[in-house]
Order: sequence, then C-alpha cells, then structure tokens
Amino acid sequence: MSEKIQIFDTTLRDGEQVPGCQLNTAEKVEVAKGLEKLGVDVIEAGFPVSSPGDFNSVVEISRAVTDPVICALTRAKVMDINLAAQALKFAKRPRIHTGIGASDIHIQHKFKSTREKVLEQGVSAVKYAKKFVEDVEFYCEDAGRANLQYLAQMVEAAIAAGATVVNIPDTTGYNLPDVFGQKIKFLFENVSNIHKAIISVHCHNDLGLATANTVSGIQNGARQVEVTMNGIGERAGNTSLEEIVMILKSHPHLDFETNVNPKMITPMSNMVSRLMNMPVQPNKAIVGANAFAHSSGIHQDGFLKNKENYEIIDPEDVGAGDSNIVLTARSGRHALKHRLEKLGYIFEKDELEVLYVEFLNMADQNKQIEDEHLHILAKTETKII
Ligand code: KIV
Ligand code: ZN
Repeated sequence: MSEKIQIFDTTLRDGEQVPGCQLNTAEKVEVAKGLEKLGVDVIEAGFPVSSPGDFNSVVEISRAVTDPVICALTRAKVMDINLAAQALKFAKRPRIHTGIGASDIHIQHKFKSTREKVLEQGVSAVKYAKKFVEDVEFYCEDAGRANLQYLAQMVEAAIAAGATVVNIPDTTGYNLPDVFGQKIKFLFENVSNIHKAIISVHCHNDLGLATANTVSGIQNGARQVEVTMNGIGERAGNTSLEEIVMILKSHPHLDFETNVNPKMITPMSNMVSRLMNMPVQPNKAIVGANAFAHSSGIHQDGFLKNKENYEIIDPEDVGAGDSNIVLTARSGRHALKHRLEKLGYIFEKDELEVLYVEFLNMADQNKQIEDEHLHILAKTETKII
C-alpha cells in the first residue's frame, strides 16, 4: 500500500510574507476554505504575534475550517506561544509550530548565543506549547546549513520534550538534492527516538531546488512536506504544492500518495494569484498559462498524432481544461487544420495549402493567431473558392 505524505500548506504564512501579497482576514478565510476543498492536511494559518490582523486571521480560519489541522507559528518565546494558543482556541485540531535557529550562523549572528542555550530554549518552548495543545511541531531553522551532529541532538531533544512533528527547513535554499536527502537519512540513522515523530521538510527556492530537495527529503524518510500554492514565499519562494502533488502522482513506482484532489489545483492556483495580486509566470510547471500549450510545428504535429508524444499530464487532471494549440508563424498545416475544424471550417487539402500561405503572412504580422483571425482567414478562402 502507498505511504501517505502529509501536505502542510503555508501559503497563508510563509507565502503571505511576499511583499505586496498581504491578504485581509476575509480573503485568508476564502483561501483556507479553498485549501480544505483541495485536500491539504495542515493549514499554517499565520504568525499570531506578528500583528493583530494575523492573530485575528488565525481565529477566523480556526472557526471556518473543519478537516485540516490548523497551525500557528511562533518563535521559541512564551509571549508568542501564549498568543498562538489563544488564536487557536476555536481550532478543531490545533497545532503550535515553534522553533529556533539550528545553524551556527543563526546561533552566533541572530541570537548571539551558544548551541547549548539555544537547544535549551527550543526544548523549553516545546514543553511550554505542550501545556496548550497535544500537537506541537518544532522547526530547526536553517537546518540546511547546521552542523549535522548538533542538528541530530536538537531533533532528539525536541522529540523527547514532546514534539509530534519535527521540521527540517532548508531556510536559505542552499542545499543540493543529494546533500539534503543525506541529511534526512543521517537523522533517521542517528536520532534514537525519531520514529516517535513525523519528519517534515520545508525548502526554499533560492537556487531553484526547492522541489527537488523536497522530493529527496521524502525519498529519505520525510512524511510531511511544507509547500505553498504557486510556490510563493520569501525571496525566490517555497516548494510549490502543485509540483510535489503531481510528481508523486506521475511516478506511482515511488509508492507515495497525498489527500490532494488534483482537479482543484488550477482553481486554487487562480484564486491565490487573483487575491494576492501575484501573476503566475507563464512557464510555471503545472499551473503556468503555457504548461499545456504547444506552439512549434513539430510539437503540434506530434501532439495532434498522440497527446502522449508531448504531454506527461492530462490538463483535465489538474482542472486546467484542454491543452492549447497556439498558432504562430512556427505552426504547421496540421495545427492550422485542427484549429479551423474546431471552429467549424472544413477544407480540402488544396484549399488548406492556399490558406496556409495566407496564414503565414498573417502570423508574421501578429505574434499569435487567435480565433477572430481564423474566422477572417476562413471567410477569405471561402470567397476565393
Ligand atoms: O524557512 C524557514 O525556516 C521557516 C521556519 C519559520 C519554519 O519558514
Ligand atoms: Zn520558510
């Protein structure tokens, strides 16, 4: 039987940290309800200590959402944990996500502290959070650059203190996929109580490796992944939800499954893009406008002979509707005939030859040939005949 990968969505916390993407409470509730329909397991609803607005959003999301775990972020501080616990009071399944920096860079330059003191603070935070909720996730910030022995010590201590989930973030997106995977493997081999908790991975995309690192984390034992819709997030973003879900679905031999309903991916991507006022890049995997568009003559001809020649995912499966044959001056006769037939124009081979010459002239003058151009073209040919 396939093993379940928990989808922890942080669109409303790490994703919402993107400049210019802030949402009001009503918008956050709309996204949270959408994420529930999508089938995510955990919604990170916010960082309550950061502002009254964020606190309120966690309260309202907790009221509005039933199935997913609702999670609130804190630093390893009493004040943060108190506020997170209050904000989560209506959550049916509350989780506090607390933690502290694990790398020497963070310990020295952010906390101006020592490994021992930081570890102690992290453990105290877990114990304190456990007074309010059973489900406590602990993050070892900047684990991607931390000393491995120390990281193992921190993970062991957090689990001993009661953490149910331990998050191993590559906060700066620095790791290579094999190196990140080896880190997770090292933890499984060197932390004696590791099987008492779920190991989570949280990767950033500074080198474009967030998705690859997350997959590598899964292959080495992680069973929760922290992701955002459209891969939005701090700097170059977080691992994108849609990529992980479709990678696992497209490679059944890996034997992992998620609860996500892939047909809801495109509607959710559009909702997040619209509400956050953040366009999706056209070539974005799975949800970009060109993800299922074919524009060169060779590709169009191959695609029209058999979709599988150039598509590994059926766009219907991710709620994206039909594939798109884009007509440009690089398109061939096969694509032109296909698009004309869709509009109800059926031409003989010799008629199509005449039309194709006209089409190329038109396409050289217009970047893309749309349906209205094709109507004009088809009527010209009808008149010639
Ligand atoms: O990137 C990171 O390390 C984080 C933590 C706060 C979980 O977002
Ligand atoms: Zn992050």
